[in-house]
Amino acid sequence: MQQKIVILDFGSQTTQLIGRRVREMDTFCEILPYNKFPKDDNNIIGVILSGSPYSVYDQEAFRVDFSQFIGKYPVLGICYGAQLMAYCYGGKVEPAGSREYGRAHLKFFEAENPLFKGFEPDSQVWMSHGDTITQLPEGFHAIASTEDVKYAAYANLEKRIWAVQYHPEVHHSLQGFQLLRNFVVDICGSNQSWSASSFVETTVRELKEQLGNDRVILGLSGGVDSSVCATLLNRAIGKNLTCIFVDHGMLRKHEFEKVMDAYKGLGLNVIGVDARDKFFHDLAGVTEPEEKRKIIGRDFVEVFDAEARKIKDAKWLAQGTIYPDRIESLNITGKVIKSHHNVGGLPEEMHLQLCEPLKWLFKDEVRRVGRELGMPERLIKRHPFPGPGLAVRILGEITPEKVRVLQDADDIYIEAMHNYVCEDGETLYDKVWQAGVILLSPVRSVGVMGDERTYENPVALRAVTSMDAMTADWAHLPYDFLAKVSNDIINKVKGVNRVCYDISSKPPSTIEWE
Ligand code: XMP
Repeated sequence: MQQKIVILDFGSQTTQLIGRRVREMDTFCEILPYNKFPKDDNNIIGVILSGSPYSVYDQEAFRVDFSQFIGKYPVLGICYGAQLMAYCYGGKVEPAGSREYGRAHLKFFEAENPLFKGFEPDSQVWMSHGDTITQLPEGFHAIASTEDVKYAAYANLEKRIWAVQYHPEVHHSLQGFQLLRNFVVDICGSNQSWSASSFVETTVRELKEQLGNDRVILGLSGGVDSSVCATLLNRAIGKNLTCIFVDHGMLRKHEFEKVMDAYKGLGLNVIGVDARDKFFHDLAGVTEPEEKRKIIGRDFVEVFDAEARKIKDAKWLAQGTIYPDRIESLNITGKVIKSHHNVGGLPEEMHLQLCEPLKWLFKDEVRRVGRELGMPERLIKRHPFPGPGLAVRILGEITPEKVRVLQDADDIYIEAMHNYVCEDGETLYDKVWQAGVILLSPVRSVGVMGDERTYENPVALRAVTSMDAMTADWAHLPYDFLAKVSNDIINKVKGVNRVCYDISSKPPSTIEWE
C-alpha cells in the first residue's frame, strides 16, 4: 500500500510548497482540487486543506463536503482551511482589524500538544490573512495564539482536526517543517516509504491516460532532466514519442555519439541532428558573450522547429521542466512562476500542448526516478551543462579548432575526476556540482617544451560545489589531482601550454565565464 496525504487545493499560491514539504518526509502526496476528494481510496492517511485567496463568506468561496473526510482521517487546516472548518462548524470568521501579515510568535496553551511537539517557546511563524477566527465552534479549543491572533492554532481531538491560521509551509515559519512532520508522521502515521517506484508507476499510468495514442515531441539536451523525462514517456507511450537531439558543435568530446548510444540503449526513438556547420557559420567573427548566446539560442530554435515540423500529427511538446525551474522566488504570496522556455514559437503555431511530467520533482528526486527507470548511472549523475555548451567556455571568437582544443582538455579533466576515488569511496566527479575547462583564447603566454619556445593559450579549470547553482563555492580539489591534470593537459593537448585553477565563488563570480 502506498500511503498518501491528500492536499486539497483551495487556490493558495503556496499549496505546491505544502506538497514539497510532505515529499521531503518521504511521504507521497497528491494535490487535488478542493472539490475532487477521491472516493474509495484506501491509501489515504490524512488530509491537508490549503489556504485560499477567498474569504469564507465570499459568494464564490470554495466550499467542500467535510463528511467525505472529517472523522475518517486526521485533517490539518492551513489558513483558509482553518477558517473554513471553524466557520462551517458554527464558529465566527470576520475581517481582521488590520490585515494579519508577517512574522509573529506562538504562545502555547497546552504544555504538550502533538502538533507542536519539539517546538521552541515563542516559535516564529508567518501570517498572511485578511480574515480572522473570532469564535471557535463548540468542541474546538485553541492550542496556540500570537500577540494579534487569538486562535493561531486550534484542535478538535474527537474529530481529529488540527488547524493553524499561519503558513507552516513557508521558510519564515521557522518550525513549519516540524509542524507538518508532526502532523504527517506522528498524527497520520506515515511510514515514510514514498519511493521513486511509486512515482514512476503513477506517472506512467497518468501519462497513458492523458496522451492516449497521441504523438509527442521532446527536445533532448543530454542532461539529466530531459533524459529522465524521455525515458518516463517512453515507458508510457513508446514509439509515439519522438525525441530530437541537436548537435550544435559545442558539446563535449564525443558527447553526441555517446549520448545517442545511451538513448538508443534505453530504447528511445531519437532523431540526431547534425547542425554544426550552421552554428559555426553563424558564430564566425562574433566575440561578445551575449551576442554569442543569442545566436546559439536563435539557431537552436530554427533547427529544432524544422525537425519538429516533420512530425506531422504531433499533439504534444514534452519538456523536462522540473520544480525549481518554475520557481523564481518564494514569498508569502507564493511563487512567481517564470515563463517557461518553450522551444521557439512551436507550441503556439503548431498548437502543441505542453506535457511536463517532472514538474513536481526536485533534482534529487529526478535522479531517483532515473535510477528506478534503469538508466545508466553515468547519465543520471551528469553534471549540469549549459545549453550553449562549450561556447560559453571559449573566450573570444569560436572556431572549430578552438572547440577541439577545449574538448580535449575538458575530456582529460572530467575523465580524471571520474577516476579519482576519494577516501570515502566517492569519486571527485560525484563530489562536485559542476566542473569544466575554460579556454582563455585571447590570452597567450610563453612556455618551453623540450628545447622549443611555445607561445600558446592557457586554460582555466573550474569546479564548484553548490546546492542549486544560485550560489557556489570553488571546490578544494586535491593538489595531486590538479598536478596530474595539469601535466596531462599540457603534454597531450596541442595548443595549451599553461593551466590555471579558478578559485572564485559565486557570487560575485558566476559559474560559467561567459
Ligand atoms: P552561472 O554561470 O549563471 O550558471 O553561475 C548557473 C548554472 O546555469 C548554467 N547555465 C546555463 N544553462 N543555458 C543553460 O541551460 C544557459 O544559457 C546557461 N548559462 C549558464 C550553468 O552551467 C550553471 O549550472
